[in-house]
Parts: sequence; C-alpha cells; structure tokens
Amino acid sequence: MPGSSASLSPALPKADLSHLPHLPVTPFLGHTLDVVRDSYGLHRRSKDAFGPIYRFKLLGLWRVALHGPDALEFILTDRDCLLSSHHGWDALHRLFPRGLMLRDFDDHRRHRRIMQGAFRAGAMAHYHQRIAGEMDALVANRPLGRAFAFYPAIKELTLRIGAAVFMGLPLDDPRTGQLNRAFIAEVMAALSPIRRPVPFTPMARGVAGRLFLTQTFRDLIKERRLREGDDFFSQMCRATDEDGTHWTDEEIADHFNFLLMAAHDTTASALAALVWALGAHSEWQDRLVAEVDALPDGQPDQAALDTMVMTDRAFRKVLRLVPPVPFIPRRAVRDFIWAGVDFPKGSFVTVMAGATMLSSELYTDPHRFDPDRFSPNRAEDRRHRFAWTPFGGGAHKCIGLHFSTMQVKLFTASLLRRARIGLPEGPQVEWQRMPIPRPKGGLPVVLSPRM
Ligand code: HEM
Repeated sequence: MPGSSASLSPALPKADLSHLPHLPVTPFLGHTLDVVRDSYGLHRRSKDAFGPIYRFKLLGLWRVALHGPDALEFILTDRDCLLSSHHGWDALHRLFPRGLMLRDFDDHRRHRRIMQGAFRAGAMAHYHQRIAGEMDALVANRPLGRAFAFYPAIKELTLRIGAAVFMGLPLDDPRTGQLNRAFIAEVMAALSPIRRPVPFTPMARGVAGRLFLTQTFRDLIKERRLREGDDFFSQMCRATDEDGTHWTDEEIADHFNFLLMAAHDTTASALAALVWALGAHSEWQDRLVAEVDALPDGQPDQAALDTMVMTDRAFRKVLRLVPPVPFIPRRAVRDFIWAGVDFPKGSFVTVMAGATMLSSELYTDPHRFDPDRFSPNRAEDRRHRFAWTPFGGGAHKCIGLHFSTMQVKLFTASLLRRARIGLPEGPQVEWQRMPIPRPKGGLPVVLSPRM
C-alpha cells in the first residue's frame, strides 16, 4: 500500500503496455544496446516517430518514456503516491539496495529526515572549511604544460573529497583507490545486459565491488560508534529515529554505498563537462577567470562563493547540456491515466529530463553553449517550474545540490587561479551518456600556468 514500507515488496504485476507504440526491437535485447550506445538518439527517433509518450524495452522490460516539463512535474511531484522510486530504479537493486533513492513514501521520508541533518547550514559550513582547506593541494597535484586525462583525475579528486568529508578519511588514505575501483565496477554493472553475477561479467565485478564497499563501511562503523567525530559518517553512526533507535550497521553501510556513489560520480561528470566547455569557449573562460581574480585573497568563504554568478551560470548550462542523470525512472503502484494514456499498475515509466532540457519549446537555440540564457533578464529556465531539472524534483530531489555547487565553485576558483584550460584535441568531445556521462577518451586537457 502506498505510504507504507510495505510498498518495498517486489510484488507488482507485469503491466500490459501493448497500447503504446515503439521502434523495432532486437530479439532478446530489446533496445538495451541502443540505450548503451546512443540513448539520446534512440529517444529522439522515438519521439519524432510517436510524439512525447511511447515505449522502449530495456533490460528485458518494456518501459514508457515521457517527455516534457508537464510530465516531469506530474511524475516527480507524484501528489497521489502513484509511483515507486524503488521499483523504478530496478537496475540498481542488486548493487545499491536500500539506498535513499531506492526507498519510498513514509519509509523514504523517515530516512531522508535523518540524512537531511547532515546537509544543514552548520554541517555545510564544516564541509566548506574542510574542502576549501584541501582543494588547492588536490588541484596542485595536476601536471602543468602537458596533456593529461582530466576525467579519471577529477573522479579520483571528487571521491577523495567525498571520503574525507563524509567518512573522515585522510585525503591520502590508500583505501580511496580501492573504493574508486569498486564504485566504477558497481556503476558499470547497472546497465549490464547479464543481470546475474555470472563469473567474469560486469555484474559479478559490480557485486564484488559492493561487497568490498559494504565491508569497508562496516569496519569503520565499529570504530566510529565509539568516538565523537564530527564527520558525516560518525554523525550517522550516532543518529537515532524519532523513537530513539539507531540505524543498524547494515542500514548505514547501504546508505553510504549509495551516497558516496551519488556524491562523487555525478559531480565528476559535471566538472568534466564544465572544463570541456571552458576549454572550448575561451570567451567564457575569460569571464570566469575575471570573476575568480576578483575574489578576496585566500580560501573563498561562502560570501565569496556567492559572488561567483558567472561560474554558477556556466555550471547550470553544462548540467543542461550533459546532465549526469538524464533519465529518471519510476514504477506505478496503482493504475492511473495521464495525458489520456492508461498506465496500468506495474508500468515502468521514465521521464526524459535530459531531452526535455534540450527542447526548443523551452530553450532558444537549445544546443548552443550560452550561459547567459540563465541571466535574470532572460531566465529561460523559468519558463516552466520543471524546465531545468538536472537535480530532479519532488520528494527525491537531489539532497546534495548545494554540496555539489559549493564543490564546483571551490574547484573552479582553485583551478583558474592557477592555470588556463586548453583542449589539445580541439573542442569535439564525444560523450558516453550511460550509465553516468563520461567523455570518451578521458578528456585530455592541458593546463597552462598563469603568469
Ligand atoms: C552535479 C551533481 C549531481 C547531480 C546532477 C545529481 C542528480 C540527482 C538526481 C536527478 C536525483 C533524483 C533521482 C530521482 O528522483 O530518482 C538525485 C538524488 C540524490 N542525490 Fe544527487 N546529484 C548530484 C550530486 C549529489 C551529491 C554531491 C550528493 C551527496 C552529497 C548527492 C546525493 C543524492 C542522494 C542521496 C539522492 C537521493 C535523494 C532521495 O531519494 O531522497 N547527489 N541526484
């Protein structure tokens, strides 16, 4: 029943979606390979052929795709508790079970309220200080004057920051490399067509990654329950429900397995897109350099970050062009009708946040890099409450929105004070869009020292 944790039970019927059109499918695989190779292309072709509602077959199941800001608003706001996030994110069940995004209704609200404590102003000020204090040293590790692959480097940097801030690990902790490899294995397994952990398959590597991560978290829990650390992990080990019960070791390990992945992979993807855009658009890089040069000396505090409006606009822009989470899935726990279409109980629905943010009905010349479209006098993102949704919306809206914005600004200030960004191979970069966008070839960049 919606509203209770019983909704986590897997007993939803397979829905008959035969009333909806679809592009031709490959036997057994459906559209899975199209999604892995060029998900935007598949959805563009389907929308051109059938309009904003159609079906596609991914990982053995038919799913309904919905485009447009009204669909995003209806599905994500979910006023009548019609839709389960747990059942929608079925591809993550084996890898990230019981993470916050995989919980529903009352159970989700209870867990989110506890986690929210770690993102209040006081806690954020503590993270800010910790990140600002370390960012220069992390950025200074990057070579100057010669090409290096930016994407793996930024992924490692964001994970080190996440492990330091959320788990209280030292920045040079040798376990961070192993954590990174385990997270990569988990994320790559999410879209693997072989869904069982058959030896040597991505799913087997993903499940092994999960075991390593949850064991690492369990070892830390014992230690942290005993001491008064102010990092997020220590707080979660001591946090209690309204009725005074602690989260179990298993709950904490599951939350961290999901939270750390959500925190570092998405931000790394967004920072890679930002660096690519600044390398390709030197006039925008000039504007951000000027903004960074106008900051007071030393580590930027929150007031200084608030002045970085050009960085904010450029960041918003790359999240629109290369959103780390372009598709948001749900599953109907009851029958409903929307836009005249029947959605029987058990239907998988996916809202197309990425494609909607590239729609010419909402944005002028939507593929152009033009961060000023977010300026107060143009405000194209305000054309609809759900026109700009890289962080989702409704009950599951990203809990780390402000954290990632802070991290992006601190990184930009640290990097552009030190160097200018160049792209040795020209502005054309291809993006592997799934499961989380990453630049093919790792995004070679050259950082030239500033005089
Ligand atoms: C650019 C960076 C990021 C993007 C684009 C992003 C995007 C998203 C989106 C779209 C959702 C909603 C998914 C849904 O409705 O099914 C989400 C949820 C979530 N994100 Fe983020 N995220 C980012 C960074 C972060 C960071 C830094 C953290 C943690 C510090 C984080 C933690 C979470 C968590 C825990 C959820 C689940 C929330 C819930 O279910 O209540 N994210 N994120």
